[in-house]
Amino acid sequence: MALMRNQVVVITGAAGGIGRSCAYAMRDYKLVVTDYSQDIVDKLVIELRSEGIDALGYAADITDREAVEGLKNLALRQGNFKAVIHTAGVSGATKNIEQIFNINLRATDIVIDTFHDISRKDSVIVLIASMMGHAIPPNPVYDEALRKPNKKNAFSVVEPFVKNNSDTMYNFTKRGVLLLCEDNVMRFGYMGARIVTISPGVVFSPMVKQAWHDHPETMEIQRRMTPAGRYGVPEDIAELAKFLISDAAEFITGTDVMVDGGLFSQIMKANDEKDKSTNKDAKATKEDTKETKPK
Ligand SMILES: NC(=O)c1ccc[n+]([C@@H]2O[C@H](COP(=O)([O-])OP(=O)(O)OC[C@H]3O[C@@H](n4cnc5c(N)ncnc54)[C@H](O)[C@@H]3O)[C@@H](O)[C@H]2O)c1
Repeated sequence: MALMRNQVVVITGAAGGIGRSCAYAMRDYKLVVTDYSQDIVDKLVIELRSEGIDALGYAADITDREAVEGLKNLALRQGNFKAVIHTAGVSGATKNIEQIFNINLRATDIVIDTFHDISRKDSVIVLIASMMGHAIPPNPVYDEALRKPNKKNAFSVVEPFVKNNSDTMYNFTKRGVLLLCEDNVMRFGYMGARIVTISPGVVFSPMVKQAWHDHPETMEIQRRMTPAGRYGVPEDIAELAKFLISDAAEFITGTDVMVDGGLFSQIMKANDEKDKSTNKDAKATKEDTKETKPK
């Protein structure tokens, strides 16, 4: 534990449901916690310190490259850089699709690049993606833009595929996070460092409480479809993140771990069945039309 006290773990989105839970799970490390608002970060640091956790706060908009640079420099001054747990993000409830692209994807790319600079042997980057990132199929056109989200035209390449639907943009950005992990793995591997993603299912955090409020029926259907029989809780994600940054996970890199209680497989199965029955109906209608055609 004395060793861990000298290792610095940075948590973005630390005031959110998953971020805060990660801060508690990583309590044996030296923490640098960051979120959007100074006031919220200050309160969080007071709370964590009152629990005996060694935490320092830094307020930053994660989409601002200079601010992320400042975060890196602060982390560097605290000791040996161990990990970033990057949880900052917004859901489809944010109706501005460009803002979703910037926060969920462009900022993730900035975080990877910036913390690559101070990574060393055994450092780990943990990115929070989503099971919904897996629902977007591969495509050479938008994948190229998702892989390089800070290129000037990246947003305008992805935009037409999203059809102004903020939930769809959310799913695209999370596919992008999965691709960034794949693309960066060798870059970290050269120095003995790792990069991984976690894809949560439905985790009961403030983000999901809002969705629950907006679409209670959909949320209840999802809960009933979940083989584990419950929603996720932030601790499900935080405990995995803690394992992933530990030496016990030293052979895990460049990959995604889904933590969804089994829900994603059931969504895919239901979609397949829906497609099959739509195809069957379409075939039956075609046959009927053939039969009623005058000979
Ligand atoms: N909760 C879920 O069911 C779920 C499912 C799949 C994926 N995720 C992902 O997990 C991550 C954490 O989600 P959560 O449920 O804890 O959400 P949350 O809303 O509770 O926390 C997100 C945090 O990110 C911060 N943030 C947003 N924009 C920021 C910005 N520009 N700069 C700095 N901080 C910013 C917010 O202030 C907030 O504290 C997100 O990336 C989310 O997409 C969540």
